[in-house]
Amino acid sequence: MLSEHSKQLLAERLTHYPPNEKASAVIYACYLAQADSPTHSITQQAAREIAEVLEMDPTEVQGVIGFYSLLFEEPMGKYVIHFCNDLPCALRGADRFYEFVRARLGIEDGETTPDGLFTIEHAMCIGACHRAPCMQVNLEFQEFLTEEKFDRIIELLRAGEPLRANMADAEPLSAAAPL
Ligand code: FES
Repeated sequence: MLSEHSKQLLAERLTHYPPNEKASAVIYACYLAQADSPTHSITQQAAREIAEVLEMDPTEVQGVIGFYSLLFEEPMGKYVIHFCNDLPCALRGADRFYEFVRARLGIEDGETTPDGLFTIEHAMCIGACHRAPCMQVNLEFQEFLTEEKFDRIIELLRAGEPLRANMADAEPLSAAAPL
């Protein structure tokens, strides 16, 4: 369900589109609905609400949600970690590193930690092969992972600290060694 604040944001966004092109804002609307949700997912009710506002068929909205890997129909953790173990990353130790990630969080692929904070999923190439091992945490990339760096990321997220500012001083790209 969209919050009042999200409804206002969406209404403002729609002023940028021609009246007969409201569907163009569907991803933004889904993003807002997901951000509002305590389960970090888009319920069928929210999808119907989006469809009504954007004058779409609810199945079209469901189709968009199903297509994009960062929109979720099922309950997810606050932080969704997409860990790449596609071939180029696997050649740099990603499979072994992903074992470490799962053990560290105490969950398996596709699961969410009991505190609702983290969901982990393996991913196909996220476009950072030359910086493997790498992962995407919600919308942020984390690359040249080491066990220490991963622990620091999790610690920051548990503390509610932003990654971008706090990880900027992580080891320079050239200094990071592959596993
Ligand atoms: S294969 Fe992992 S980022 Fe490309």
